Amino acid sequence: MINSITIRKPDDWHLHVRDGQMMAATLPHTARAFGRAILMPNLVPPVATVADGLAYRERALACLPKGSDFTPLITCYLRDDTDPDDVEEGFKMGLFTGVKLYPANATTNSALGVTDYEKVYRVYERMEKIGMRLLVHGEEVDPAIDVFDREAVFLDRRLAPMMKSFPGLKIILEHLSSKIGVDFVRANAPQLGSTITPYHMEINRTDMLGWGIKPYFYCMPIIKTEADRVALREAATSGDSCFFLGTDSAPHAMAKKLAVTGAAGLFTAPLAIELYTKIFADDGKLDKLEAFCSLNGPAHYGMAPNETTITLERRPWTIPEQVLVDGPEERVLVYRGGETMEWQVVG
Ligand code: NCD
Ligand code: ZN
Repeated sequence: MINSITIRKPDDWHLHVRDGQMMAATLPHTARAFGRAILMPNLVPPVATVADGLAYRERALACLPKGSDFTPLITCYLRDDTDPDDVEEGFKMGLFTGVKLYPANATTNSALGVTDYEKVYRVYERMEKIGMRLLVHGEEVDPAIDVFDREAVFLDRRLAPMMKSFPGLKIILEHLSSKIGVDFVRANAPQLGSTITPYHMEINRTDMLGWGIKPYFYCMPIIKTEADRVALREAATSGDSCFFLGTDSAPHAMAKKLAVTGAAGLFTAPLAIELYTKIFADDGKLDKLEAFCSLNGPAHYGMAPNETTITLERRPWTIPEQVLVDGPEERVLVYRGGETMEWQVVG
């Protein structure tokens, strides 16, 4: 049995830390283990212009512990009226790592997202020209579509035509959640890459709904079947270059998670790299951990991998139940809080 592993420092290509006191409480949990992370722009109001992005990056840097070498990466929230010149300026100045497409109302804070797919084609045209990445929340929001089919329908109805029209545009399908999605990404690599969360590889919809409704397993894209879970796990642990790490750690105040209409999103940052390591170890795939966590992502983004390393050991610890937040949000419950985690970051 392998009890210790050292890999190049990982990056989190899909992370929510919010803003203000919530960011101050949550960002250090990612900075402790990751070299870089893409901070998702779905704030209220969203990070939608160069001015917004510059200010958000400053606020993020101010939340880091002294001496931290963590780099926050910023993306631009795509709207029907996004200005391609602003996007290009943000990219060329090294601020925007990419542009994030949220179909309007697909998930938390996406009300201002794209409503008319044709309207944003002029932004894609520019991005294709300058080599900028498009990050996609791939779910169809047509109310006629069953929530479990949103990803599959989006791929067919929206993403496939988009990729055909812009063959030079590199795309990341975020938080992949289905076997159909896994097959689609493989068929469309290397133009398409995809992030996979730890929880989509751990739980299925029976875990979420079969023995009482579990709000702390509720996220978008919704957790799907056992066959989907297995396919995602096989994809990530294959080490194939089109799949890489994106936790989608998404803190919500406890009161919002447990409301009559509960918020979608799971907070995993305090145990994220440990959880991925456990998944790869349990499947006998630790030899692929570094590719998934630290190499495939930078390669898809056209960036160099981190130079430093981290080491994890099999050394059980108890996952904290909550992270306290100064101010009205008060507390965020942690995914699997109170349970034992076998792997620990030791250096
Ligand atoms: C995310 C959030 O809370 O911002 N929620 C989620 O369920 N994953 C948004 C997202 O990535 O969809
Ligand atoms: Zn997300």
